[in-house]
Amino acid sequence: MSLQSVAQQMVAPGKGILAADESSGTIEKKFAKVGLTSTEESRRDYREMLFTSPGIGEYISGVILYDETIRQKADDGRTMVSIIESAGILPGIKVDQGTAAMDVSPEEKVTKGLDGLGDRLKEYAQLGAKFAKWRAVITIGNGLPTDGNILRNAQDLARYAMECQKAGVVPMVEPEVLMDGSHTLDQCVEASRRTLKILFDELTRLGVDITGTILKTNMMVPGKESGKKATPEEVAASTVQVFKDILPEGLPGQAFLSGGQGDVEATENLNAINKMGPFPWKLSFSYGRALQDSALKAWNGKKENVTVAQQVFLKRAKMNSLATLGTYTGEN
Ligand code: 13P
Repeated sequence: MSLQSVAQQMVAPGKGILAADESSGTIEKKFAKVGLTSTEESRRDYREMLFTSPGIGEYISGVILYDETIRQKADDGRTMVSIIESAGILPGIKVDQGTAAMDVSPEEKVTKGLDGLGDRLKEYAQLGAKFAKWRAVITIGNGLPTDGNILRNAQDLARYAMECQKAGVVPMVEPEVLMDGSHTLDQCVEASRRTLKILFDELTRLGVDITGTILKTNMMVPGKESGKKATPEEVAASTVQVFKDILPEGLPGQAFLSGGQGDVEATENLNAINKMGPFPWKLSFSYGRALQDSALKAWNGKKENVTVAQQVFLKRAKMNSLATLGTYTGEN
C-alpha cells in the first residue's frame, strides 16, 4: 500500500483513530485513578477489550499502539496486530520516547527518540505498523513558547517524518500545544499558528511528502486553568481559521488529539468544526482520553464488564464518527 493510500484510509469519511499508545507509566496512572493495578496482563486485557469491540471497524480506521502491545498476543493466542487487521483497521505505533526538559529553556520540552529511529521503524513495519506517531509538546506560559523551542520541535518532527517515509510508514506528526495553564483562547491561537507554520516549513525543507503525512494537533481552546470555556462555535471558528491559513492543500488530513477536553466536549467541538466544511483536508479524531476514559471506568478490570465497556467505547467512537461528518446531534 502506498503512503498516500494509507494516509487517505486513516482519515476516511466517518472514521478516526484510537490512540491506545499510552506508555507503561501513563497507563499505570490511568489505571490507578480507577483503582486498577497495571501489569502486562491487565494492560493486555484492557486493550484486547477495546480492540475486539464488535463492529469497531465501522468507526475506527487506525489504532496507535505502544511498543509492548505491538508485540503482544491476546488471550486466544492471536497477535494484537492480527486482531486489529481482521477488523479492517490499520495498526500504528508510537515511536517517540517521551519528553525531556530543553537545556536552554528548562520549562519547555523536547522529544526523545531520534537515535536509532530508522532501525526501529524497519522492525515496526515488519511487525505490521502502517503509520507511526511522534508527539512534541509546546508549552504556553510567561514568554513561552520560545521560537527556539518551536523550531527545535519542528526540526525533530520533520526528521522523524522523513525517516518514517524512508521506511514506508506514514508519519503522523503531532505538535501538541498544551491546554495546561491559564492562557486565553487567543494565546492558544497565536502559539498554535507559530508552531504549525514552522512545522510545515521544516517538513517542506526536508522534502517530506505531505500527501503521505497526517497531522495530529490540538484544537484552539483556552487554558484549563483560565476559568474560561469557549463555545464549540468559537473553538471551530478559530481552529478553522488557523488551518485555512497554514495547512497545505495536499495534506490528506488532520486528526485531533483530545488533550484533556471532556469526552462529549471533544465530540461537540469536532462536530462544530466539520459543520464549517468542506475543507481541502479531512478533519478527524485521534483521541486517547476522550475515547477511552468512560470505557475504562465501565470495564474496571473485570471480565463480566467487557460487553458493557465495549458498548460504552463504541458509543463514543460512533459519536465522533458522526462528528467527522458534522452530523452529530447529541448523545442519543
Ligand atoms: P489525548 O486524546 O488523550 O490527548 O491523547 C491523544 C494522544 O495520542 C496524545 O499523544
